[in-house]
Amino acid sequence: MPAPDLDTIVSLAKRRGFIFPSAEIYGGFANTYDYGPLGVELKRNIRETWWRSMVRDRDDVVGLDAALLTNPKVWVASGHVANFTDPLVDCKSCQQRFRLDHLLEGAYPEVEKHAEGYRCPRGRCEFTEPRQFNMMFQTQVGPVADESSIAYLPPETAQGIFINFENVVASMRRKLPFGIAQTRVSFRNEITPGKFVFRTLEFEQMEMEYFAMPPKDRENPSEYMDLYRYWVNERFQWYVDRVGIDPSRLRLREHAKEELSHYSAGTTDVEYLFPWGWGELEGIASRTDFDLKAHGELSGHPLTYFDEETNQHVVPWVVEPAAGLSRTLAVTLLEAYNEEPDEKGDKRIVLKFRPNIAPIKVAVLPLSKNEALRPTARRVFDLLRPVFMTQYDETQSIGRRYRRQDEIGTPLCVTVDFQTVGENGAAGDDAVTIRERDSQQQTRVPISGLLEAVGERLPGC
Ligand code: GAP
Repeated sequence: MPAPDLDTIVSLAKRRGFIFPSAEIYGGFANTYDYGPLGVELKRNIRETWWRSMVRDRDDVVGLDAALLTNPKVWVASGHVANFTDPLVDCKSCQQRFRLDHLLEGAYPEVEKHAEGYRCPRGRCEFTEPRQFNMMFQTQVGPVADESSIAYLPPETAQGIFINFENVVASMRRKLPFGIAQTRVSFRNEITPGKFVFRTLEFEQMEMEYFAMPPKDRENPSEYMDLYRYWVNERFQWYVDRVGIDPSRLRLREHAKEELSHYSAGTTDVEYLFPWGWGELEGIASRTDFDLKAHGELSGHPLTYFDEETNQHVVPWVVEPAAGLSRTLAVTLLEAYNEEPDEKGDKRIVLKFRPNIAPIKVAVLPLSKNEALRPTARRVFDLLRPVFMTQYDETQSIGRRYRRQDEIGTPLCVTVDFQTVGENGAAGDDAVTIRERDSQQQTRVPISGLLEAVGERLPGC
């Protein structure tokens, strides 16, 4: 099925408890969103899948959780204070602010381009000269509000990793090459309103800095480039194999020189074909020795690695795969969405999440609210929930409950009926029905073998 339009996903996400517009009772707030009960599970599952692939399943990567607020010099050394800027223009008639590059790309539907210039809903747009606008949020630390108390909310997770490089090497006895991974919230004062959770002020990132020996020839770093290409391919494949994205809607795109971030010597994006066109999911950047060197210089504390072979201190070079958790989550919703005709000719909406991503893995559904079914249904629920994220639901007709579980992407429903518990004095078979979401196939399984039967149907969970 072709990808659904964004409105369909936004509406389902709210209706079914994945994502809510933030502070809606106050009219919302600057394109911010809250993750509901199912959204938070979905997000945890994607984060966990990333962590498993990048940390637990590898011998050469360790994790970290650095503080959000840190010494502001970190952001001076990293170049964010000076360079993390967007060119902005203000409309003199409506006072609205636009990112110049996005304006030129036609990203603002309210501003029309005419032969004589631009026109916004409040008149003719005469723009101020472009100014560089820093995207970091500032805050104040301590009781005195002056220059010395300025702190920044982190616009990326990477710097927490760089400033802990020496701590990790020393405490974990790491040898190059190795990586440090971190998942965390980041903040950017984005001017262009985002599309749903694609571009927000506050978002989660999943980043890894992979440190390697510096190349012998800086101008021709062939081994380092092999490593860079290795990570580009690894990361592309992760979206296909572990998140379940159709590779025909994924591509790799190399940045042109003028697009590169201030720290990057080369970047390749993993892009997804969103309903509005191709957009970035992840950037794999060649950060060289930019960050370790910069922190070493500004702090006066060199961040180096002692190479036992050459008996020399070297500054490692870094490849950085930087993924957006919130964006990946939006893509899983777009990818999973399916509409199918049901047996009555109605529409069946089903989210076909990969089992490892699905927020709820199993739903236990007694056939009805009948008291006779409840003790066995609760026994089945208690059997499954220590192992799988399981939901119990006995309200409404069984057909409606199946529909609800399809719409939230639950791979399996387990139904307890009168055959299970017995009826009219006859003994039950103590077996239940497993219904599979995608095929809608139903299989009778004894409760004694249920955990195994469910496990076989939920690989990677
Ligand atoms: N440390 C490198 C770095 O931060 P980036 O390309 O600016 O690189 C990495 O960000 C990923 O973070 C992006 O590919 C995107 O998925 C996500 N991201 C960046 N800005 C975002 C925003 N405003 N809202 C949601 N996700 C964002």
